[in-house]
Amino acid sequence: FTGASVRIVEVGARDGLQNEKTVIPLATKLELLNKLSKTGLTHIEAGSFVSPKWVPQMANTGSILEVLEQERRAQGQDGDGITYSYLVPNIKGLETMLGVKGTAAKGNEIAIFASASEEFSIKNLNCGIEESLRRFRPVVESALEHGLQIRGYVSMVISCPYSGPTSPQAVGDVVERLLEMGCYEVSLGDTNGVGTPGTVGKLLRHLVQERGIKPERLAAHFHDTYGQAIVNSLVALEHGIRTFDSSVGGLGGCPYSKGATGNVATEDLVYFLEGTGVKTGVDLEAVARIGEWISKVLGRGNGSRVGRALAGS
Ligand code: HMG
Ligand code: MG
Repeated sequence: FTGASVRIVEVGARDGLQNEKTVIPLATKLELLNKLSKTGLTHIEAGSFVSPKWVPQMANTGSILEVLEQERRAQGQDGDGITYSYLVPNIKGLETMLGVKGTAAKGNEIAIFASASEEFSIKNLNCGIEESLRRFRPVVESALEHGLQIRGYVSMVISCPYSGPTSPQAVGDVVERLLEMGCYEVSLGDTNGVGTPGTVGKLLRHLVQERGIKPERLAAHFHDTYGQAIVNSLVALEHGIRTFDSSVGGLGGCPYSKGATGNVATEDLVYFLEGTGVKTGVDLEAVARIGEWISKVLGRGNGSRVGRALAGS
């Protein structure tokens, strides 16, 4: 992989924090985002415009966007050059986002999130897969009209706690629908972190080799519940995937996927990639300091092994 480079999508402020039990002050989230913006990361998920009844931790996403937009205006047209991404489940979420004063298309994008498992779709989105895709269509149309790019997610790509193993065909069907709808890329969510090189390899062979989906249009979103995320990332690299989602300090867990732990830690991913000759553009030591800091602030152990090693803890 020498000479290859990847894009890392930092999801700690969204996937990482959405499941925290204690309310995280707005100032802490802003400090986290601010610190992350100085590490070389180019793509940061900053929150979700979802129902605060279901995910209270994301209730202040509008305020986050507002502050980041103020900062962008203060910095000039291009702001800090980072793309900030926000989960949007429906038209109501998009309207809330677009209602934030000065929301610019440049520097912001949305992410829509579907599932390859019918049961998880109902738990997470309150509707089945077909209905969720039907609801996303006007969101995509409106977002495109406003110049916003759209990222897609598919959850439970390996197996689902409610319905058992997911077939690669079921994943492929949803991925293709999201791409056809207008997503520039689809992130493959091993939501509960059960994948192995065997099952991840089988999925990627199906998507890339059998279906002919270009790996440039795919991203890997591995949770590390069973400690397989790094070896699965190697499998994804071998299949040509060059976009990886991760969260600083391995923060996270999904509110609708019991027992699932955080995403692969950004520190672990960067250490692995750089050590394999793949450029990330991310300052490992800087991210590791943020992982230590946010873990202490949240009163949890640092979920990154690399972070712990670098901190000597
Ligand atoms: P719904 O079908 O309208 O119905 O929402 P509901 O009963 O679930 O919610 C109804 C209430 O939410 C109503 O308020 C709505 O107005 C309100 P009430 O009348 O009861 O006062 N509502 C909203 N409020 C604010 N913003 C909105 C919005 N929409 C409805 N946009 C919906 C369906 C999906 C919106 C809702 O169930 C929801 O927000 N669920 C949370 C989904 C979520 O955030 N899941 C976690 C993120 S996905 C993930 O983590 C996986 C990923 O990381 C990849 C992977 O790992 O696999 C991406
Ligand atoms: Mg996730």
